[in-house]
Amino acid sequence: MNKIIAVCMLTLLTSVSVLSQKVNGDVKNGEKLFKDNCTACHALDRKLTGPALKGIVTKLTEEGADVGWIQKWIMNNEALRKSGDKRANKIFEENNQIAMDVFEGRLSEQNIDDILAYLENPPVPTQEVTPVVVEKKTSNDLNYILLSFASIGVILIFTLIKVNKLVKLKTSSAELTELESTRIKNFSQFYVQYKGVLYALVTLLLALSFYGVWAWLMGIGVDKGYAPDQPIYFSHKIHAGENKINCQLCHSGAKYGKVSEIPSLSVCMNCHRNISEYTGKYIEPGKSKEFYTAEIKKIYEHIGWDEENQKYTGKQNPVKWERIHNMPDFVYFNHSQHVVAGEKTIIANYNKKNPNHQIDVVCKACHGSIDTMNVVRMANDFTMGWCVDCHRTTEVDMNNGYNAAYFNKLHEKLKKEYGEDKSKITVDAIGGLECGKCHY
Ligand code: HEC
Ligand code: HEC
Ligand code: HEC
Ligand code: HEC
Ligand code: HEC
Ligand code: HEC
Repeated sequence: MNKIIAVCMLTLLTSVSVLSQKVNGDVKNGEKLFKDNCTACHALDRKLTGPALKGIVTKLTEEGADVGWIQKWIMNNEALRKSGDKRANKIFEENNQIAMDVFEGRLSEQNIDDILAYLENPPVPTQEVTPVVVEKKTSNDLNYILLSFASIGVILIFTLIKVNKLVKLKTSSAELTELESTRIKNFSQFYVQYKGVLYALVTLLLALSFYGVWAWLMGIGVDKGYAPDQPIYFSHKIHAGENKINCQLCHSGAKYGKVSEIPSLSVCMNCHRNISEYTGKYIEPGKSKEFYTAEIKKIYEHIGWDEENQKYTGKQNPVKWERIHNMPDFVYFNHSQHVVAGEKTIIANYNKKNPNHQIDVVCKACHGSIDTMNVVRMANDFTMGWCVDCHRTTEVDMNNGYNAAYFNKLHEKLKKEYGEDKSKITVDAIGGLECGKCHY
């Protein structure tokens, strides 16, 4: 009987946990909805009838609004204004009292989340923005080709050995008919004549397959500690550490999207249009002010910024950042699930486990103290065991809005049933160990 109840609860809980993804949206669908409903009055990067909307969630939340407010505004701005909401009326005044359409009945809440996700991470770069190129460590397709080369090579060697044996055996056999023996003689001659070519082919295939295996091992083996050189010597210690720049200013995707993303050069230019030289006190051993300044100039080269005349030349050459963290394609990992829904408990749990190393920013629980790194290095091994370990030991945040209503009831029930000790609900209890949650 208890078992049945437990199973029922688990099913209930897993269906509830879908709610925790509420801020997530489907960027593709969002793009379509935006084009269909909003582009008459809004563009991403410039003002039309309404304000530019790229990154609007970040902008408004920085100004103190919450996501709920933005959703309400889009759903029915008129009602919001009539309710006396100050912010809503202020925007209306600032935009010459032009009323925005009401979307109640036309868009669902999910539709709006999709649009917001798109506005945070519009995938297609506009002309002013250089695309962000992130190189993958190895290409899987190449590996398949190389592996098939390897198998062909092995089969060829096998056949050669067999043929070799056959040639020796058959020519010495007395029982052969004349016809067969001439055939075999011809074949032996052919074989002797072209042996060299065959061996050369086999050697080539073997060399290729060794290369394949090596490349594959490189891709799989490097994990914790992986810290490749980057085309621009960008130091997190100088940006996030010395200058205390918030991680999410550059990696804004972490909050609303599946991926964090590397910022585009136009984000760099927000500051580096004015910061063209390094004048900081901190200098890493072996580096110099001149070195740092030269690295800043690389931004200008790549984005095509003419420093002297303070204008863009239009000549761009995207930076090819080397990708460091890279889960296999069959793994589903979502930043916002961890950065928004899991933020409080992940920080609390980390600090409990590491009394000598307290963190304030959730990113550090997984990425380590990036703000002390000149070169980003993988701080954990990012394996399945690592994910599962944390899900087993990290409690779910009962008060994070999404979970609160449902879990509080359940929490009480569990307390009654199992006693005070076992009343903690860890991520595994809400489905965090189910294969399908992390694998497609
Ligand atoms: C008929 C024109 C029109 C359409 C269509 C429209 N908007 Fe607006 N929107 C405006 C105007 C004008 C404002 C400025 C506020 C005002 O004057 O009421 C605005 C303001 C906003 C704001 C607040 C921006 C800020 O800087 O505070 C958001 C968010 C927004 N719109 C999202 C959307 C979305 C999403 C859609 C499509 C689903 C959409 N709008 C469709 C005209 C429009
Ligand atoms: C000023 C912009 C900026 C800030 C602020 C910033 N980053 Fe970055 N981050 C970058 C750039 C550019 C890269 C790519 C180059 C590199 O790897 O250093 C990057 C790379 C990374 C990577 C590795 C990405 C990969 O390829 O796997 C992680 C993880 C990361 N940042 C986390 C953080 C965290 C955590 C913080 C806050 C403590 C932070 N970043 C603050 C710009 C920034
Ligand atoms: C929020 C402002 C801001 C943004 C955004 C920003 N930087 Fe910086 N950057 C700084 C400051 C501040 C310094 C230190 C300047 C000093 O101390 O003189 C700096 C220094 C640098 C340096 C020299 C030191 C080092 O890290 O090697 C480079 C190179 C650099 N930035 C590259 C970038 C790149 C590339 C981007 C975009 C991915 C970027 N910055 C985005 C503020 C910013
Ligand atoms: C629960 C662990 C966890 C937390 C917390 C976390 N990350 Fe990540 N991060 C990951 C994993 C796992 C990947 C690899 C994702 C992939 O390859 O699909 C990753 C990848 C990245 C990347 C590389 C680009 C990408 O999205 O794949 C950046 C940049 C990054 N994280 C920044 C951040 C920042 C900034 C924060 C805090 C706001 C943060 N992360 C919080 C686990 C985490
Ligand atoms: C530092 C701890 C930590 C690590 C490491 C971690 N997670 Fe999580 N994860 C959480 C927490 C906490 C939640 C629950 C958030 C909530 O809804 O309150 C969660 C939730 C999830 C969920 C949603 C579960 C559900 O039932 O809705 C998925 C999927 C997930 N994580 C995947 C991963 C993957 C894949 C990795 C490894 C690449 C990983 N996580 C690593 C702490 C972690
Ligand atoms: C919390 C997230 C999470 C859950 C739950 C999870 N996996 Fe994984 N799994 C991962 C990650 C991350 C990797 C990639 C590890 C790597 O690249 O080193 C992985 C890799 C794998 C692999 C490839 C082999 C390997 O170890 O690299 C298999 C097979 C696999 N998982 C099966 C399963 C099965 C079966 C279940 C259910 C019992 C499951 N996983 C549940 C996160 C998860």
